[in-house]
Amino acid sequence: MAIDMKGKDLISIHDLSREEVVQILDTTHILKMKNKLGEIYHPLKGKTMGMIFQKSSTRTRVSFEVGMWQLGGYALFLSANDLQLNRGETIADTARNLSRYLDGIMIRTYSHQDVVDLAEYSSVPVINGLTDLLHPCQVLSDLFSIREKKQDLAGLKLAYIGDGNNMAHSLMFGGAKTGMHVVICSPSGFEPDPEVTRLSRLDASKTGSTITIQDDPVEAVKTADVIYTDVWTSMGQEEEYEKRLESFKRYQVNNTLLENAKEDVLVMHCLPAHRGEEITDEVIDGPRSIVFDQAENRLHVQKAIMALVM
Ligand code: CP
Ligand code: NVA
Repeated sequence: MAIDMKGKDLISIHDLSREEVVQILDTTHILKMKNKLGEIYHPLKGKTMGMIFQKSSTRTRVSFEVGMWQLGGYALFLSANDLQLNRGETIADTARNLSRYLDGIMIRTYSHQDVVDLAEYSSVPVINGLTDLLHPCQVLSDLFSIREKKQDLAGLKLAYIGDGNNMAHSLMFGGAKTGMHVVICSPSGFEPDPEVTRLSRLDASKTGSTITIQDDPVEAVKTADVIYTDVWTSMGQEEEYEKRLESFKRYQVNNTLLENAKEDVLVMHCLPAHRGEEITDEVIDGPRSIVFDQAENRLHVQKAIMALVM
Protein backbone atom coordinates (compact mmCIF):
# COMPACT_ATOMS: atom_id res chain seq x y z
CA MET A 1 0.00 0.00 0.00
CA ALA A 2 1.27 3.47 -0.86
CA ILE A 3 2.44 5.56 2.09
CA ASP A 4 1.18 9.16 1.99
CA MET A 5 4.28 11.39 2.12
CA LYS A 6 2.55 14.62 1.01
CA GLY A 7 3.88 17.59 2.97
CA LYS A 8 6.83 15.66 4.38
CA ASP A 9 10.27 17.28 4.61
CA LEU A 10 13.32 15.39 3.38
CA ILE A 11 16.10 16.50 5.67
CA SER A 12 17.75 13.25 6.73
CA ILE A 13 17.33 9.59 5.76
CA HIS A 14 17.30 8.94 9.51
CA ASP A 15 13.87 10.64 9.67
CA LEU A 16 12.37 8.30 7.05
CA SER A 17 10.93 4.89 7.82
CA ARG A 18 12.43 1.91 6.03
CA GLU A 19 9.16 1.62 4.10
CA GLU A 20 9.38 5.26 2.98
CA VAL A 21 12.92 4.69 1.69
CA VAL A 22 11.72 1.65 -0.28
CA GLN A 23 8.77 3.66 -1.61
CA ILE A 24 11.13 6.40 -2.86
CA LEU A 25 13.30 3.78 -4.61
CA ASP A 26 10.29 1.99 -6.12
CA THR A 27 8.80 5.30 -7.34
CA THR A 28 12.19 6.17 -8.82
CA HIS A 29 12.09 2.94 -10.83
CA ILE A 30 8.65 3.83 -12.23
CA LEU A 31 9.66 7.40 -13.12
CA LYS A 32 12.92 6.27 -14.70
CA MET A 33 11.00 3.77 -16.86
CA LYS A 34 8.52 6.47 -17.95
CA ASN A 35 11.43 8.76 -18.77
CA LYS A 36 13.18 6.08 -20.85
CA LEU A 37 9.91 5.33 -22.70
CA GLY A 38 9.42 9.01 -23.46
CA GLU A 39 6.15 9.12 -21.55
CA ILE A 40 4.97 12.60 -20.55
CA TYR A 41 3.92 12.56 -16.89
CA HIS A 42 2.90 15.82 -15.20
CA PRO A 43 1.81 15.15 -11.60
CA LEU A 44 3.23 18.54 -10.49
CA LYS A 45 1.54 20.64 -13.16
CA GLY A 46 1.06 24.19 -11.89
CA LYS A 47 3.40 23.67 -8.90
CA THR A 48 6.55 25.64 -8.14
CA MET A 49 9.67 24.88 -6.14
CA GLY A 50 12.31 27.37 -4.97
CA MET A 51 15.92 26.22 -4.91
CA ILE A 52 18.17 28.14 -2.49
CA PHE A 53 21.87 27.68 -3.16
CA GLN A 54 24.46 28.98 -0.70
CA LYS A 55 27.11 26.66 -2.18
CA SER A 56 28.05 25.73 -5.76
CA SER A 57 26.44 22.85 -7.63
CA THR A 58 26.40 21.16 -11.01
CA ARG A 59 24.36 17.98 -10.50
CA THR A 60 21.93 19.07 -7.80
CA ARG A 61 20.89 22.26 -9.51
CA VAL A 62 20.49 20.82 -12.98
CA SER A 63 18.80 17.56 -11.92
CA PHE A 64 16.26 19.32 -9.66
CA GLU A 65 15.48 22.00 -12.22
CA VAL A 66 15.13 19.55 -15.12
CA GLY A 67 13.25 17.07 -12.91
CA MET A 68 10.69 19.66 -11.85
CA TRP A 69 10.18 20.68 -15.48
CA GLN A 70 9.71 17.05 -16.54
CA LEU A 71 7.04 16.64 -13.84
CA GLY A 72 5.13 19.61 -15.26
CA GLY A 73 6.16 22.12 -12.59
CA TYR A 74 8.54 25.06 -12.41
CA ALA A 75 11.73 25.47 -10.39
CA LEU A 76 13.20 28.85 -9.43
CA PHE A 77 16.93 29.15 -8.82
CA LEU A 78 17.43 31.40 -5.79
CA SER A 79 21.05 32.39 -5.32
CA ALA A 80 21.72 33.21 -1.69
CA ASN A 81 23.63 36.29 -2.86
CA ASP A 82 20.40 37.74 -4.22
CA LEU A 83 18.07 36.81 -1.36
CA GLN A 84 17.56 39.13 1.61
CA LEU A 85 18.79 36.18 3.71
CA ASN A 86 22.33 37.40 3.07
CA ARG A 87 21.38 40.87 4.35
CA GLY A 88 20.13 39.60 7.67
CA GLU A 89 16.52 38.49 7.05
CA THR A 90 15.93 35.53 9.34
CA ILE A 91 15.52 31.95 8.19
CA ALA A 92 12.10 31.91 9.87
CA ASP A 93 10.83 34.95 7.97
CA THR A 94 12.31 33.63 4.73
CA ALA A 95 10.45 30.36 5.28
CA ARG A 96 7.16 32.10 6.11
CA ASN A 97 7.39 34.25 2.98
CA LEU A 98 8.50 31.59 0.52
CA SER A 99 5.73 29.28 1.77
CA ARG A 100 3.18 31.84 0.51
CA TYR A 101 4.45 31.53 -3.07
CA LEU A 102 5.91 28.06 -3.44
CA ASP A 103 4.81 24.44 -3.14
CA GLY A 104 8.25 23.24 -2.04
CA ILE A 105 11.73 24.49 -1.14
CA MET A 106 15.06 22.83 -1.84
CA ILE A 107 18.08 24.24 -0.04
CA ARG A 108 21.83 23.67 -0.23
CA THR A 109 23.67 25.40 2.57
CA TYR A 110 26.39 25.16 5.22
CA SER A 111 24.66 24.86 8.59
CA HIS A 112 22.39 21.84 8.94
CA GLN A 113 20.44 23.69 11.63
CA ASP A 114 19.43 26.29 9.01
CA VAL A 115 17.62 23.56 7.05
CA VAL A 116 15.95 22.26 10.20
CA ASP A 117 14.83 25.82 11.03
CA LEU A 118 13.64 26.49 7.48
CA ALA A 119 11.49 23.36 7.67
CA GLU A 120 10.11 24.33 11.06
CA TYR A 121 8.85 27.70 9.86
CA SER A 122 7.86 26.64 6.36
CA SER A 123 4.37 25.30 5.61
CA VAL A 124 5.59 23.60 2.42
CA PRO A 125 7.98 20.62 2.23
CA VAL A 126 11.70 21.34 2.53
CA ILE A 127 14.25 19.15 0.74
CA ASN A 128 17.87 19.07 1.86
CA GLY A 129 20.14 19.52 -1.17
CA LEU A 130 23.31 19.17 1.00
CA THR A 131 24.51 20.63 4.28
CA ASP A 132 27.83 20.33 6.08
CA LEU A 133 26.28 17.37 7.92
CA LEU A 134 24.23 15.42 5.35
CA HIS A 135 23.51 14.81 1.66
CA PRO A 136 20.36 12.62 1.64
CA CYS A 137 19.27 13.06 -2.01
CA GLN A 138 22.69 11.89 -3.18
CA VAL A 139 22.54 8.79 -1.00
CA LEU A 140 18.97 7.91 -2.02
CA SER A 141 20.26 8.04 -5.60
CA ASP A 142 23.21 5.87 -4.57
CA LEU A 143 20.94 3.29 -2.93
CA PHE A 144 18.89 3.18 -6.12
CA SER A 145 22.06 2.81 -8.23
CA ILE A 146 23.34 -0.07 -6.09
CA ARG A 147 19.93 -1.75 -6.18
CA GLU A 148 19.91 -1.49 -9.99
CA LYS A 149 23.20 -3.38 -10.17
CA LYS A 150 22.91 -5.80 -7.25
CA GLN A 151 19.10 -6.22 -6.98
CA ASP A 152 18.92 -6.36 -3.18
CA LEU A 153 20.56 -3.99 -0.69
CA ALA A 154 20.16 -5.99 2.51
CA GLY A 155 23.32 -7.84 3.46
CA LEU A 156 25.65 -5.98 1.07
CA LYS A 157 28.83 -4.39 2.43
CA LEU A 158 29.69 -0.80 1.49
CA ALA A 159 33.19 0.45 2.33
CA TYR A 160 33.54 4.24 2.35
CA ILE A 161 37.17 5.37 2.17
CA GLY A 162 37.88 8.97 3.13
CA ASP A 163 36.59 11.88 5.13
CA GLY A 164 33.89 11.29 7.76
CA ASN A 165 31.84 14.04 6.12
CA ASN A 166 28.28 14.73 4.91
CA MET A 167 28.50 11.86 2.39
CA ALA A 168 29.79 9.40 4.99
CA HIS A 169 27.00 10.42 7.36
CA SER A 170 24.19 9.99 4.84
CA LEU A 171 25.64 6.66 3.67
CA MET A 172 25.61 5.49 7.29
CA PHE A 173 21.92 6.42 7.62
CA GLY A 174 21.04 5.05 4.18
CA GLY A 175 22.87 1.77 4.74
CA ALA A 176 21.40 1.34 8.21
CA LYS A 177 17.82 1.85 6.97
CA THR A 178 18.20 -0.63 4.12
CA GLY A 179 20.18 -3.35 5.90
CA MET A 180 23.57 -2.70 4.29
CA HIS A 181 26.72 -3.11 6.35
CA VAL A 182 28.65 0.17 6.19
CA VAL A 183 32.34 0.48 6.99
CA ILE A 184 33.67 4.02 7.30
CA CYS A 185 37.43 4.07 6.88
CA SER A 186 38.91 7.45 7.80
CA PRO A 187 42.25 8.67 9.11
CA SER A 188 42.44 9.53 12.78
CA GLY A 189 40.84 12.90 13.43
CA PHE A 190 38.50 12.67 10.43
CA GLU A 191 36.02 10.10 11.73
CA PRO A 192 32.26 10.64 11.37
CA ASP A 193 30.24 12.67 13.83
CA PRO A 194 29.66 10.64 17.06
CA GLU A 195 25.93 11.48 17.18
CA VAL A 196 25.43 10.32 13.57
CA THR A 197 27.33 7.14 14.47
CA ARG A 198 25.09 6.55 17.49
CA LEU A 199 21.85 7.17 15.60
CA SER A 200 22.83 5.14 12.54
CA ARG A 201 23.82 2.21 14.79
CA LEU A 202 20.38 2.45 16.38
CA ASP A 203 18.78 2.28 12.90
CA ALA A 204 21.14 -0.55 11.90
CA SER A 205 20.13 -2.62 14.93
CA LYS A 206 16.57 -2.67 13.54
CA THR A 207 17.59 -3.97 10.08
CA GLY A 208 20.32 -6.40 11.14
CA SER A 209 23.14 -4.36 9.62
CA THR A 210 26.30 -2.92 11.14
CA ILE A 211 28.13 0.42 11.13
CA THR A 212 31.87 0.05 11.61
CA ILE A 213 34.44 2.84 11.94
CA GLN A 214 38.08 1.93 11.25
CA ASP A 215 41.23 3.32 9.64
CA ASP A 216 42.75 0.62 7.39
CA PRO A 217 41.68 0.93 3.70
CA VAL A 218 43.03 -2.52 2.71
CA GLU A 219 41.05 -4.19 5.47
CA ALA A 220 37.95 -2.09 4.68
CA VAL A 221 37.70 -3.04 1.00
CA LYS A 222 38.16 -6.81 1.55
CA THR A 223 34.77 -8.51 0.95
CA ALA A 224 33.15 -5.15 0.09
CA ASP A 225 30.42 -5.13 -2.58
CA VAL A 226 30.75 -1.36 -2.98
CA ILE A 227 33.70 0.99 -2.51
CA TYR A 228 32.70 4.63 -2.11
CA THR A 229 34.82 7.74 -1.90
CA ASP A 230 34.39 11.51 -1.86
CA VAL A 231 36.62 14.59 -1.92
CA TRP A 232 39.03 15.06 0.96
CA THR A 233 38.24 18.77 1.16
CA SER A 234 34.54 19.58 1.12
CA MET A 235 32.95 22.92 0.21
CA GLY A 236 33.73 25.39 2.99
CA GLN A 237 36.98 23.65 4.06
CA GLU A 238 39.21 25.11 1.34
CA GLU A 239 41.67 26.58 3.86
CA GLU A 240 42.47 23.06 5.09
CA TYR A 241 43.29 21.75 1.61
CA GLU A 242 47.08 21.26 2.04
CA LYS A 243 46.78 19.72 5.48
CA ARG A 244 44.10 17.32 4.28
CA LEU A 245 46.18 16.21 1.26
CA GLU A 246 48.81 15.04 3.73
CA SER A 247 46.37 13.40 6.18
CA PHE A 248 44.50 11.44 3.48
CA LYS A 249 47.35 10.33 1.20
CA ARG A 250 47.05 6.65 2.29
CA TYR A 251 43.31 6.76 1.50
CA GLN A 252 43.36 7.03 -2.30
CA VAL A 253 41.09 4.62 -4.20
CA ASN A 254 43.48 3.33 -6.88
CA ASN A 255 44.17 0.05 -8.69
CA THR A 256 46.55 -1.13 -5.95
CA LEU A 257 43.78 -0.81 -3.37
CA LEU A 258 41.30 -2.52 -5.71
CA GLU A 259 43.58 -5.58 -5.89
CA ASN A 260 42.35 -6.34 -2.37
CA ALA A 261 38.67 -6.13 -3.37
CA LYS A 262 36.21 -8.51 -5.01
CA GLU A 263 36.30 -8.79 -8.80
CA ASP A 264 32.72 -7.48 -9.13
CA VAL A 265 32.99 -4.63 -6.62
CA LEU A 266 31.21 -1.40 -7.62
CA VAL A 267 33.17 1.84 -7.32
CA MET A 268 31.15 4.93 -6.47
CA HIS A 269 31.74 8.65 -6.01
CA CYS A 270 29.11 11.36 -5.54
CA LEU A 271 31.14 13.78 -7.73
CA PRO A 272 32.69 16.25 -8.24
CA ALA A 273 35.89 14.16 -8.11
CA HIS A 274 39.34 15.53 -7.51
CA ARG A 275 41.03 13.11 -9.88
CA GLY A 276 44.48 12.08 -8.69
CA GLU A 277 43.58 12.80 -5.06
CA GLU A 278 40.86 10.58 -3.55
CA ILE A 279 40.47 8.54 -6.76
CA THR A 280 42.65 7.86 -9.81
CA ASP A 281 41.61 8.24 -13.46
CA GLU A 282 42.06 4.52 -14.09
CA VAL A 283 39.56 3.64 -11.34
CA ILE A 284 36.94 6.32 -11.96
CA ASP A 285 37.03 5.63 -15.72
CA GLY A 286 37.44 1.87 -15.20
CA PRO A 287 34.97 -1.02 -15.61
CA ARG A 288 33.88 -1.14 -11.95
CA SER A 289 32.95 2.53 -11.76
CA ILE A 290 29.25 3.50 -11.84
CA VAL A 291 29.74 7.18 -11.06
CA PHE A 292 27.82 8.56 -14.04
CA ASP A 293 24.90 6.17 -13.42
CA GLN A 294 24.79 7.61 -9.90
CA ALA A 295 24.78 11.12 -11.33
CA GLU A 296 21.98 10.30 -13.77
CA ASN A 297 19.92 8.69 -11.04
CA ARG A 298 19.89 11.96 -9.10
CA LEU A 299 17.35 13.13 -11.68
CA HIS A 300 15.07 10.12 -11.29
CA VAL A 301 15.30 9.90 -7.48
CA GLN A 302 14.63 13.60 -6.95
CA LYS A 303 11.65 13.44 -9.29
CA ALA A 304 10.32 10.65 -7.09
CA ILE A 305 10.93 12.70 -3.94
CA MET A 306 9.24 15.81 -5.38
CA ALA A 307 6.27 13.84 -6.73
CA LEU A 308 5.79 12.11 -3.36
CA VAL A 309 6.11 15.09 -1.02
CA MET A 310 4.68 17.98 -3.06
N1 CP B 1 26.99 15.28 -6.02
C1 CP B 1 26.53 16.54 -6.03
O1 CP B 1 25.72 16.93 -5.18
O2 CP B 1 27.02 17.32 -7.02
P1 CP B 1 26.88 18.91 -7.13
O3 CP B 1 27.70 19.49 -6.01
O4 CP B 1 27.43 19.24 -8.47
O5 CP B 1 25.44 19.29 -6.98
N1 NVA C 1 31.53 16.29 0.59
C1 NVA C 1 31.33 17.09 -0.60
C2 NVA C 1 30.16 16.57 -1.36
C3 NVA C 1 29.87 17.32 -2.66
C4 NVA C 1 28.66 16.79 -3.38
C5 NVA C 1 31.13 18.53 -0.21
O1 NVA C 1 30.37 18.79 0.73
O2 NVA C 1 31.73 19.41 -0.83
